[in-house]
Amino acid sequence: MSKLVVEGGARLQGTVGVMGAKNAVLKEMVSALLAPGRHRLTNVPGILDVTLMCEVLGHIGCRVEQGDHELWLVVPDQLLPEAPIELVRQMRASIVVLGPLLARCGEARVALPGGDDLGARPIDMHLNGLEAMGVDFELVHGELVGRVDGRLKGTEVELPFPSVGATENLLFAGVLAEGDTVIVNAAREPEIEDLITQLAEMGADISGGGTSLVTVHGVEKLAPAEHHVVPDRLEAGTYATAAAITAGDVTVTGCTPEHLRMELRKLSEAGCEVEQGNGWLRVRGPERPTPVDFATLPFPGFHTDMHPQMVAVLSIAAGTSVITENLYDARFRYVGELARMGADITTEAQHAVIRGVEQLSGCPVLAPDIRAGAALVMAGLRAEGITEVADASHIDRGYEEFPERLRALGARIERG
Ligand code: EPU
Repeated sequence: MSKLVVEGGARLQGTVGVMGAKNAVLKEMVSALLAPGRHRLTNVPGILDVTLMCEVLGHIGCRVEQGDHELWLVVPDQLLPEAPIELVRQMRASIVVLGPLLARCGEARVALPGGDDLGARPIDMHLNGLEAMGVDFELVHGELVGRVDGRLKGTEVELPFPSVGATENLLFAGVLAEGDTVIVNAAREPEIEDLITQLAEMGADISGGGTSLVTVHGVEKLAPAEHHVVPDRLEAGTYATAAAITAGDVTVTGCTPEHLRMELRKLSEAGCEVEQGNGWLRVRGPERPTPVDFATLPFPGFHTDMHPQMVAVLSIAAGTSVITENLYDARFRYVGELARMGADITTEAQHAVIRGVEQLSGCPVLAPDIRAGAALVMAGLRAEGITEVADASHIDRGYEEFPERLRALGARIERG
């Protein structure tokens, strides 16, 4: 079992560069399925989830060649339109192959992902939207089997919630559909905007990217393209919280600070000095943070995937913070681990009350998911003594060389 061993007490200082966004690159790998030929992606992070997505695409029939932070995806004319449970179980995001496979092959067999460590995570909006575009689904022995007669049909789909994954599946379905697909209440995340840029580079005709109303004018075919992945705002934001919790001084390069406006605002309310420029941001942490309240919301609200790291910061604040988690029903699972380190946090439904303590104390903890794993490492950086974070492979799913990058900033952290 992978483990990270952190010795607390160091103030992090220096500069760290971030790579392309996990939640963009995974979908941009999948969008290659829409056009046979050789695609190229650059600024690709060296993370476990990219390796897992290479396996999914390999199963479907693609050849993947990897370079230094680059990927070439060679997509054949004939695809095997399926993603079996072994692959979907390892990576839930595999569900977005539904759209491209239906568009290219007229059928898709994808294992139903089920819930995970963050909660139930249904996919009803993906399925309702695709059904409105002409797909018939049946569930056969745990596998979703989707079929469409001829081309998918463009239509208006109104999402009850701006789901990232549902917006992506509808974009994928819409680009090769007959007529216009209008997504009302579409997700506005920067990763979606970047995916729309990539699809446009492939020849898709999409307007309204980055807004709640996206219109896709279906085209007959797409061509392979070259695309540079948008920077990972969550990786950048995590290093910003590392500065905040250690009273450190960290500059993050290769990032887009405008994609972290709400999170940086909350860090400044917590007493951090935040500076930013084109492609960089600098955070200087206070000796002890000021309490702040926040609620997670879709972009441009406070990102749910920055919630655990921010709670780690607030766990040592001089006062009480109240936070609300609006996206996931089981995101608070890491709170018990932080409590083992001395944090004083009470949860009730989707709310948490964090009474800041003066000192955390290191102990063995378990990382339940990627972001909670990062948050426990953050807490370990500030805690007195040694924190051992078990199940650290979760962190490798989303952060390239996390302990190595932290060490370059002065952290005492080793793989155990
Ligand atoms: N939802 C439904 N029905 C649906 C779809 C979503 O009820 O059909 C609910 C989900 O259960 C969840 C909420 O809507 O409670 C948000 O789900 P969304 O579809 O927006 O998220 P996702 O596409 O499953 C992506 C990221 C997550 C990130 C969310 C929100 C990827 C691979 N994953 O998930 O990232 O938290 O958007 O921004 O892009 C992470 O990186 O650690 C991570 C979990």
